[in-house]
Amino acid sequence: MRVWNDDLQGLAFGGDYNPEQWPREVWDEDIELMREAGVNLVSVGIFSWATIEPREGEFHWEWLDEIINKLHAGGIGVCLATATASPPPWLTRKHPEILPQREDGTVLYQGGRQSYAISSRIYRRYATAMASRMAQRYASHPAVRLWHIDNEIGCHVPQDYSDSAIPAFRTWLADRYGDIDALNDAWGTAFWSQRYGSFDHVLPPRSAPTYANPTQQLDFMRFNSDAGLSYYADLTAAVRAVNPSIPATTNFMCTTGNKGVDYFAWGPHMSVVSNDHYTRAHDPERHIELAFAADLTRGTAHGAPWLLMEHSSSAVNWQHVNRAKDPGEMLRNSLAHVARGADGTLFFQWRASRAGAEKFHSALVPHAGTDSQVWNNTVELGRCLRALAPVKGSRVVSSAALVFDYAAWWGLELDSHPNNTLSYPDLVLEWYKALWYEGIGVDIVTPGSDLSGYDLVIAPNLYVTDPDATANLAGVAEGGGVFATTWFSGIVDANDHIILGGYPGAFREVLGIRVEEFNPLQPGETHGVTLDAEDAEDAEDAEDAEDAEDPEDAEDAEAGDAGALADGDAQASPDEPRTSDATASTWTERLDVRGAQARGVLTDGVLTGYPAVTENTLDSGGHAWYVATDLPLTNKRALVRTWARQAGVAPVVRAPEGVEAVVRHGDGEDFLFLLNHTEAPATVEASGTDLLSGHAGESHTLPPGAVAVLHTRTATPEPETAED
Ligand code: GLA
Repeated sequence: MRVWNDDLQGLAFGGDYNPEQWPREVWDEDIELMREAGVNLVSVGIFSWATIEPREGEFHWEWLDEIINKLHAGGIGVCLATATASPPPWLTRKHPEILPQREDGTVLYQGGRQSYAISSRIYRRYATAMASRMAQRYASHPAVRLWHIDNEIGCHVPQDYSDSAIPAFRTWLADRYGDIDALNDAWGTAFWSQRYGSFDHVLPPRSAPTYANPTQQLDFMRFNSDAGLSYYADLTAAVRAVNPSIPATTNFMCTTGNKGVDYFAWGPHMSVVSNDHYTRAHDPERHIELAFAADLTRGTAHGAPWLLMEHSSSAVNWQHVNRAKDPGEMLRNSLAHVARGADGTLFFQWRASRAGAEKFHSALVPHAGTDSQVWNNTVELGRCLRALAPVKGSRVVSSAALVFDYAAWWGLELDSHPNNTLSYPDLVLEWYKALWYEGIGVDIVTPGSDLSGYDLVIAPNLYVTDPDATANLAGVAEGGGVFATTWFSGIVDANDHIILGGYPGAFREVLGIRVEEFNPLQPGETHGVTLDAEDAEDAEDAEDAEDAEDPEDAEDAEAGDAGALADGDAQASPDEPRTSDATASTWTERLDVRGAQARGVLTDGVLTGYPAVTENTLDSGGHAWYVATDLPLTNKRALVRTWARQAGVAPVVRAPEGVEAVVRHGDGEDFLFLLNHTEAPATVEASGTDLLSGHAGESHTLPPGAVAVLHTRTATPEPETAED
């Protein structure tokens, strides 16, 4: 099979292109403008089924032939869709049984998009036939670089509860459990008279008088993720049957866009992982959420370069208040994705629609036309991406990892829990922010990933575990590294059954603790904590020590560091110099140390004196940390500094706060991306030639909001880079 971007010079640049929304006169201008901006890849045909086949069996290919030929003549590659992302009206009228349903039985009708049930055999038949027709007509067209299979599968209907789901769910359950007794054990159906006599009695977890069986809900999430993947596989097989050499992908929605899909499980099935990402307009730290999403996407690609299939040039149309991007923000957003492994940045969409629900969504060509800031930004981004051509294929390598797990997400957010207000991605993101501010780059991994390359692994709120994952994570500390986890982790097994004997059952031993009872806090309720972790001054001291020429300075700083970490007093007093004040919110626990040392202690409330942070030092020299409450960002940062220091993990470069620094390693060369997210100029001492400005030197000053990409030749190729 061809590599998706072998034929592209440098990085991909472009977006969704919907020419069917425009008269032909506009098409030539489109091609001309694409060439002016340096666009080299566009996604065509995503929502074109009803235009291609407005009535069953009546096909209109001429327009698509014409535009694909025009694009090719203009030197623009095509990421060709299967046209299945929204069934045409005639199909849902003929077969209303393909419509999806919500858990309360609400039918999701034609008139929006994605109005199909993922498990409907009828829809599957029509969709694979359509994909196959697209392939028969275009799979040997030289413009076609990549298949765009459907679109954001499961986006609007992450779980379908319609009758189409019933036989498919039963078959999936029979495969998983073998016999109905095994299902009854796994689902704990002795509770509330739920015992099933046969797989034929099982339904999706539709709206019930009260809480549906939690394991049934968890399995239904797993089933729907698998159903989406099997849909992807069927459509991919249909296009591959015609021409096996064209690579295929479907656009993911990491992080929070789609809770319903385990993208780690889907990643290996993509020729190239692609992702859609939209920033959160209301969030002043949206660039950090972007970084998190980009790292998660790279995680689902197992570290390989990936493709940003969609983001926005400015505002979207679907948030509460759709702010336009600030000057420079679109370029920073684009290059932040590239910094974290994207080999291209595409947009929704090329030309802003003039009709339909997305007419207020920004595009590369805005309603105002080319006499606009947005168009200037488009042209400038094209220039930057061309300058970054050598980055293609290079990789990000990290020695720290952050665990993100879809089963933990699904499980943690089930109902009837001690605290029912939790968002798993937000909880993980808060730790990611601490790492981001400390300049510690991470790979995002699953509990089952190969962790042997990581010195520091943090697994926040990992509610669901299994024995292999537990052993894998504990193995980090047992092997001499640093493992850290937080409250409500290791609580249940894969069937959502409590691991008995005291929480957190899965990690009790490695952490050297035992939790007897949870005591979640009401919204706004906080308690004091004394925290024995590295403060910012310690970090400065130690950094100075690294640079110090005077050996005495170095010794002083080292001593300070050790004082913060070693022989910590189990009940550290607020008077001790290394102890800082922290605040517990959301959650507390009645926790006893069983071998671990308390590094943070609750100072008021009913659990006064109980540990809130613990450290277990193992014979291997490794450390296992537990954080039993939610702490403010500043305290999380202090802990992250401590863990990073213990693990020997350092930032790639010392940069001022708010300057993002990430390295992509190529073959004998490095690319240091520096993004100044602050409103002040920032100077970074690092050598290289900025591929964007041409400035070469040992020190680079970035104006507010600016980006630099420093290119350096390395003496020898990075071994990890070459082999990964
Ligand atoms: C998603 C879809 C696009 C478009 C954008 C709007 O990413 O894939 O078709 O609707 O959202 O932000």
